[in-house]
Amino acid sequence: MTETVRALVDRLCAGEHLTEPEYAALVAGRDGEAAARLRERAVAVRRSIYGDAVFTRGLIEISSFCKNDCLYCGIRRSNANAQRYRLTGEEILLCAQEGYRLGFRTFVLQGGEDGYYTDSVLWDIIRALKRRFPDCAVTLSLGERSLDSYRALRQAGADRYLLRHETADRAHYGALHPREMSFDNRMRCLQDLRTLGYQVGCGFMVGSPGQTPETLAKDLAFVAAFQPDMCGIGPFIPHRDTPFRDRPAGSVELTCFLLSVIRLLCPAVLLPATTALGTLHPQGRELGIQSGANVVMPNLSPLSVRKKYALYDNKLCTGEESAQCRACLEQRMRSIGYELVTHRGDVRKPQIPRERKARRAPL
Ligand code: 5AD
Ligand code: FES
Repeated sequence: MTETVRALVDRLCAGEHLTEPEYAALVAGRDGEAAARLRERAVAVRRSIYGDAVFTRGLIEISSFCKNDCLYCGIRRSNANAQRYRLTGEEILLCAQEGYRLGFRTFVLQGGEDGYYTDSVLWDIIRALKRRFPDCAVTLSLGERSLDSYRALRQAGADRYLLRHETADRAHYGALHPREMSFDNRMRCLQDLRTLGYQVGCGFMVGSPGQTPETLAKDLAFVAAFQPDMCGIGPFIPHRDTPFRDRPAGSVELTCFLLSVIRLLCPAVLLPATTALGTLHPQGRELGIQSGANVVMPNLSPLSVRKKYALYDNKLCTGEESAQCRACLEQRMRSIGYELVTHRGDVRKPQIPRERKARRAPL
């Protein structure tokens, strides 16, 4: 480790935040020793807040229709080879019922930006979920919507919302997305969600085309300032039917390094070891947990649609039943000395008021 990197690592371990150029220097200058120091501290910080608990969220992939055309994503609208499906409210409830039986107390409804799911359709689904499973949290991951829409879904009972910011660098955002999508709107959505009292998740891919230590530095500075309740980060993996088909996948090593840094920047954050990490490495999710992550999200989608929700190639868990996925992860976590816990697993923070003023974050 160079002296410069050592000093940066020490400051992060002491709970300090860094400047953007310092984050860039850390990422560019990291080595195995720096990673090990950060990992050890990240695990200690997480343990002091959450013990050895790993939280589970049941992921229900409700639709592979998407009106967007993000260059990295396998379900982008211009992919004519994508197999499209959407789940009805009834089907979603059946997935949740099976999930509840298996011990899940958070359901994540994730899908492309599909116009079928109007506020009123979602209202009925969220209300039904909350009525049937009052002890469960409902998390939405349905992309960009209006403030009014987010408010309606919150009033229906949604507790949390995941919307990865994808990159905090405006020019990089432009290189990953079609012209009609806007960085400002993405950031507006995150602020709106927070104002409405959701527990909010942001996040980004590691190794997306065009990413540099400088763009990652902006991501880290953004995460440090925004202090999300959740943060989804996983490696980019190319999909054969996208313009990025020939780009290299992100690195497991860098993903794990960033998981440790983010744990230190946001000590209580709920940080998943993602399926994408597990796809790139047979022990990817275990490595993620051992780097500071504390959430896993097994798949509860019906087996018949699993392969169709293909954001990237070779996605894991597309042939396994929900029960198998859950048992597999339980075993994996046990093998590294962690316990899957089944309660809602809310973020450890003072109670979040239902509506509150947007916190200022540098956008
Ligand atoms: N590789 C890895 N992650 C991807 N996502 C979309 N496409 C890919 C890909 N090719 C991520 C995005 C999105 C989340 C649902 O999945 O970050 O926000
Ligand atoms: Fe799905 Fe292992 S987590 S099969």
